[in-house]
Amino acid sequence: MHIQKNVSLKSLNTFGLEANARVFVEVKSIDELQETLRSETARDNDLLVLGGGSNVLLSKDFNGLVIKNSIDGKEVVHETDDFVLVKVGAGENWHSFVLYALENDWGGIENLSLIPGTVGAAPMQNIGAYGVEIKEVFENLQAVNISSGEVEKFNKEACRFGYRESIFKNKVKGQYIITHVTLRLTKKNHQINTSYGAISETLEEIKVKKPSIQDVSRAVIKIRQSKLPDPAKIGNAGSFFKNPSVDRIQYEELKTEYPEIPGYDLPDNCVKVPAGWLIEHCGWKGVTRGNIGVHKNQALVLVNYGGGKGDELRQLAEEIRLSVIKKFGIELNAEVNII
Ligand code: FAD
Ligand code: EPU
Repeated sequence: MHIQKNVSLKSLNTFGLEANARVFVEVKSIDELQETLRSETARDNDLLVLGGGSNVLLSKDFNGLVIKNSIDGKEVVHETDDFVLVKVGAGENWHSFVLYALENDWGGIENLSLIPGTVGAAPMQNIGAYGVEIKEVFENLQAVNISSGEVEKFNKEACRFGYRESIFKNKVKGQYIITHVTLRLTKKNHQINTSYGAISETLEEIKVKKPSIQDVSRAVIKIRQSKLPDPAKIGNAGSFFKNPSVDRIQYEELKTEYPEIPGYDLPDNCVKVPAGWLIEHCGWKGVTRGNIGVHKNQALVLVNYGGGKGDELRQLAEEIRLSVIKKFGIELNAEVNII
């Protein structure tokens, strides 16, 4: 266990924000993690677990212990003619794992191609994109209980997955560190999902008639590269807010005033409204303020052009949130974890 002091987290968060961890440790196994948790440093300090840092806003220095989860490894733990159960270390890069699955012709996560971050953080907010969420292929996960140090197992039901939600962001927030995630992937009869409009359009563009899982991945990568800023070039954490849901009555009232407002039906007479549309129609798209701003093509993405401060981004997000309430009466909730 190598505990370091005053470590810069700049290269460990995709906003590229300058913030220091008072104490820092990188763990590569469950044993190292348990040893860290037993240490005086862990007992005397607040903890922050970091994977790829692609869903955090470090608004200031972290005056505690940052544990960087680098537990790696991929293992097929069960296999039939139809599917594999693959157990993956929390520190593995998510997109590299998607590519590995595609090389093996395992299906189920191709729509989740190119999402940054680690495998361990993926169930935290039930990552989703292009019509698929990780919960659809999720089998179970292993996590270390921070107070007891014991390893516990959570099946799908126990994780209480929802839209960008899980039990780890709610009831047991801050109580577990995920070490391994097991996914159920198909070996044949793959369920090709091209329901998200842009996928079928892109497949047509690249002249694919009967898409394989590899083709779907290629299409998703192409769409994502054209829409979202690459964090290696412009600091960002993807969608800053979640897409809100409103009840149908409120939606119909808004529609009378703003006939072009988009909405997608949800169960229970609710409608999901794209936060990007709301933010754009409050005039924020492309706005820059010093070194930070709102992306010019995607109003839901806040950006750090370099040298921006976490607290400035936090304040900008708050102004955006208040403006959306004022104009539309809709409350936006952050998807990004503000630290
Ligand atoms: P981090 O940012 O390191 O951590 C996120 C949260 O999880 C923090 O609260 C952290 O403390 C906690 N955490 C991390 N690892 C663990 C662990 N092992 N155990 C317990 N807690 C942990 N998300 C989507 O769902 N869909 C998208 O399409 C999408 N697109 C994106 C595009 C871009 C360009 C970017 C920058 C982000 C995007 N995201 C998207 C958000 C992000 O990629 C995901 O939330 C990802 O799962 C975060 O992984 P991470 O390892 O970087 O997590
Ligand atoms: N829109 C605008 N203006 C904008 C941006 C979007 O009007 O500036 C409207 C358009 O009507 C567009 C609609 O919003 O049709 C939806 O936009 P987009 O397809 O870009 O998707 P999104 O709702 O902004 C969500 C996820 C993304 C995910 C994509 C694809 C959330 C919060 N975001 O974005 O996830 O990749 O769909 O499935 O659910 C993330 O979570 O970080 C993330 C990037």
